[in-house]
Amino acid sequence: MAKIIDGKAISSQIKDEVKEKVAELAAKGISVSLAVIQVGADPASSVYVRNKKKACEYCGIKSLSYELPEETTEEELLDLIRKLNKMDDCNGILVQLPLPKHINEEIILDEISPLKDVDGFHPMNVGALSIGKPGYVSCTPAGVIELIKRSGYTIEGKECVVIGRSNIVGKPMALLLLRENGTVTVTHSRTKNLKEVTKRADILVVAIGKPRMIDASYVKEGAVVIDVGIHRNEDNKLCGDVDYDSVEPIAEAITPVPGGVGPMTIAMLMKNCLTYFDVAK
Ligand code: GUN
Repeated sequence: MAKIIDGKAISSQIKDEVKEKVAELAAKGISVSLAVIQVGADPASSVYVRNKKKACEYCGIKSLSYELPEETTEEELLDLIRKLNKMDDCNGILVQLPLPKHINEEIILDEISPLKDVDGFHPMNVGALSIGKPGYVSCTPAGVIELIKRSGYTIEGKECVVIGRSNIVGKPMALLLLRENGTVTVTHSRTKNLKEVTKRADILVVAIGKPRMIDASYVKEGAVVIDVGIHRNEDNKLCGDVDYDSVEPIAEAITPVPGGVGPMTIAMLMKNCLTYFDVAK
């Protein structure tokens, strides 16, 4: 029986810590604010954005809401970002992805000031992470590190295997595990003998984007297994990239879906809203 890593409880703890720090800043006359920009009305994005705003409210962070029509041009969006970059009373900027097809995501994300880049997607922040300098770290992989550490597991010296190499999860995940002194291997869709590699892992982080692909045959007995995936199965129920029922009996610990990594992303976003006061000094 694996220990079930409770992302809901850990994320609540983090939000409470943020709330306390926001109150301390408020007592010094400093207000924390986050601009949340959504272009169009993609239903999944609307749910995420609503949850982000709710978390802001809980933590005492002022959310500046920009709900722009689908037809917004790239130039209009760039103008808004430039305005927010200069605004003293805005210290975080988040552009919800995906953007409509006519807008180039890379151009938009590159325009966000690296000092207000709460998603940690700007090349300056990605570069800072890769050479161990302070900066914003992408929320989901940062949340995975918190889940592992706050559940009492050490990363130092452990064999850590990441499945997936996306810019948002896999790559920053590998860099963060390395920063924690793990021995890190990154695997992906072209990896040969994937099982041989994943079976070495003391800590296995799965972000491959394929429902329930990773069963017990990929996992070493006693591994800590973190599932970043989220999908709907044939019964419309949520599931991850890990076949939970197969892996749970042999793992030391495992994150459920839902209730594992998912809630951590927003909690780390709230935490990142405080980073401005460190990096912008
Ligand atoms: N869309 C899905 N996940 C994310 C995220 O972490 N940040 C942003 N900005 N958009 C997303």
